[in-house]
Amino acid sequence: MEIGKKVAGEKAATLIEDGMVVGLGTGSTALYFIQALIDKKLRIKTVASSKRSEEIAKKGGLHVLDINEVTHIDLTVDGTDEIDPQKRLIKGGGGAHTREKILASSSQEMIVIADESKVVKHLGKAKLPIEILSYGHIFARKKIEALGYVGSWRVSDATSLNQELYVTDNGNFILDIHFPALLTHPEEVHTKILAIPGVVDTGFFFNIAKRAIIGRSNGTTFNI
Ligand code: A5P
Repeated sequence: MEIGKKVAGEKAATLIEDGMVVGLGTGSTALYFIQALIDKKLRIKTVASSKRSEEIAKKGGLHVLDINEVTHIDLTVDGTDEIDPQKRLIKGGGGAHTREKILASSSQEMIVIADESKVVKHLGKAKLPIEILSYGHIFARKKIEALGYVGSWRVSDATSLNQELYVTDNGNFILDIHFPALLTHPEEVHTKILAIPGVVDTGFFFNIAKRAIIGRSNGTTFNI
């Protein structure tokens, strides 16, 4: 799995040229991309989708700007938890999907990078993260469950006895939904959940990724 992530990240980095403004994703696969950019020592500007990616990029010497400081983003490269043949995604395993979606949809292009294990025929095996405002989050969860979706709050450290809720970079909570069966119409699920007051965004990405670079464990890649 690690080799697949690495080759996908490094392949995406070959598309980056001096002068570009590049969106940095979040997660272990995106980190391989960020590291490859650091190694290439390009003259680029970047915008990060999370505090974690920003920290790593800055430490490596990349020029990181706030998203509100740029007027154009050429390309965002980010990982995913699932990708189907239509390049619909479930993201947010790292809790950053809201910022990732803002960044990707504000970019001229988004490229997904992933290892083979993320490729699915139908979305829904991975949990769907839903970012929810802390104000009224218990009521929001009840409304989501009334629609028939079962979820659990993400905790910051699952191994600790003192299980504090995970807090996103935006100061919100995450409810992870588990689906009983694979999804045939994820768009309907997204629309219903997003209509609930207090829901900031779901981890579904539709019509955002134009290309995906998938890395195999033998070190080769293919595109979707
Ligand atoms: C972060 O919030 C996520 O959307 C990640 O992009 C996704 O979880 C993939 O992460 P890995 O590359 O670590 O598998």
